[in-house]
Amino acid sequence: MEVIKVADYEALSKKVCEIFINRLQTIENPVFGLATGSTPKGLYKCLVETYESGQISFANAKFFNLDEYIGLDKSHPSSYTYYLMKKLYEHIHLTPDQIYLPNGNATDLQEECARYEQCIRDCGHIDLQILGVGINGHIGFNEPGTPFNSRTDVVNLTESTMRVNSRFFKSIDDIPHRAITMGIGTIMESKEIIMLVSGKHKADTLQRMIHGNVTEDFPASILQKHPNVTVIADEEAFHD
Ligand code: GLP
Repeated sequence: MEVIKVADYEALSKKVCEIFINRLQTIENPVFGLATGSTPKGLYKCLVETYESGQISFANAKFFNLDEYIGLDKSHPSSYTYYLMKKLYEHIHLTPDQIYLPNGNATDLQEECARYEQCIRDCGHIDLQILGVGINGHIGFNEPGTPFNSRTDVVNLTESTMRVNSRFFKSIDDIPHRAITMGIGTIMESKEIIMLVSGKHKADTLQRMIHGNVTEDFPASILQKHPNVTVIADEEAFHD
């Protein structure tokens, strides 16, 4: 696990954007896995700006969303589909066959999870997976206690995750209690992972992720076992 410490959120976004663009330009048909939440926003902004300046093309790339709430329409402003459409996909001229989304409104959710997992396999697995981390160590929506070999599945959100994520909803009562998420096993098959961590409130989380025991009680700790992980974290995310 390589850990890169940068001064602040702006530097974090710039650093991950540089690496992302490098993979876009050096991998023949790159497959990216993308996370949502506050932390990767700067990355998406940087990618859109670089695209608009004419320096890069996404024509050969494919994109997989990491997770999605169950029961929200894709036009719901708090859905992860909507988030990535608005923050990235709509700006970089993709065709629909370049974008893979778990459908949280599928009639048969188990079948949807199997379909998604198969799509990832058919694309030859993810070349670069961007991750953020929940305060309790969740990756995607894999909450503490999830087996390390889990595959894409329907999961229940913990009270604490619902509370933290309620900031993206009108009220805490509006937040779905379930989601579809790539499994930990699925994420670990990515050829490369970049984990982004920003802010004081993540300092304990970062510490435990990079130095703590590898345990299912803290899902992000499994990243210590992946052969190609880079953690990019800003100064605030480190204990003094
Ligand atoms: C959500 C998402 C995760 C994300 C995490 C951290 O629960 N399901 O994929 O990494 O929140 O989000 P933030 O970057 O806003 O702290």
